[in-house]
Amino acid sequence: MRSFTGRDILSLKDFERNEFFRVFEIAERMEPIARNRRNTDLLKDKTLVTAFYQPSTRTRLAHEAAMIRLGGSVTGFSDAKMTRAGDFYQETIKDTVKMLEFYGDVIVMRHFQQGAPHEAAKWASVPIINGGDGWGEHPTQILTDLYTVLREKGRIDGLKWLAVGDMRMRTMHSLAYGLTQFDCPITFVSPPNMSLTDEFKADIAKYGLNYREAEHVEQAIADADVILVEPVVQPDYTKSRDERTGEVGWTPSNYKITRELLTTKAKSDAILLHSLPRMDEIPPDVDITRWSRYWQEAFNGVVMRMALLALVLGAVE
Ligand code: CP
Repeated sequence: MRSFTGRDILSLKDFERNEFFRVFEIAERMEPIARNRRNTDLLKDKTLVTAFYQPSTRTRLAHEAAMIRLGGSVTGFSDAKMTRAGDFYQETIKDTVKMLEFYGDVIVMRHFQQGAPHEAAKWASVPIINGGDGWGEHPTQILTDLYTVLREKGRIDGLKWLAVGDMRMRTMHSLAYGLTQFDCPITFVSPPNMSLTDEFKADIAKYGLNYREAEHVEQAIADADVILVEPVVQPDYTKSRDERTGEVGWTPSNYKITRELLTTKAKSDAILLHSLPRMDEIPPDVDITRWSRYWQEAFNGVVMRMALLALVLGAVE
């Protein structure tokens, strides 16, 4: 297996099956630290730099919380407008990361341009973690989700997935790439204007992903062991910021997981994931049902980032 020390985490297309299990093994080792709300000194001499060119609640703060749990330090920015990249100078990714690498030992970057973390990785001498790039990928989120499935269901292989939402989403791309390494058939349900692109389909076909597409969640939910939902009412991920201006509309029933749908159609032991934030695609009354696992998924978001930071910084081998 390739070493994780010094490695960039840019895409799940790069991940081999045994590497997934190595990450999950380290995450399981980290989990009691986070669960018991303890801090350790595993990364006490290391600093995480957060470079967020797009808003985030979970990805940035989970990485920061993970670093703090491991005894490390954190610096960075959550709004590029406060940096030279977001003012008159429009400083390039290259020039920015050439600075950031002097301020810390690992950089997590979220950017509105697809491929920006890859560009950063070309120039940085420290590992770059992709915290979401435009419509590109969100590898740490899907590692979190796969780990959640493993912990909640005891296995990943052999489970049937249903993914609902906007298939242009970066999470959906990382999910499709990730599942190519497992025995997991998946059904994608999305509005026609948000379906998997032909280019992406050609790409995943090369890896032999077992998938089909359906028009309505009702056509696929009965078979699903894992239901992963994302919004179809959402902002433009290619913008640095997309403010809400007035009414944004409601989620059509085709793409909505309600308590009634779960109760009448879903498997009794299926689990429901959502990376959050949500709109109305999962109403709040679903939170207190036996299917919901998105709060557990959010907790695992810290655990997974602890594992990734420890691995890329060489604290575990
Ligand atoms: N799941 C996720 O990426 O959330 P944030 O946009 O809040 O980071």
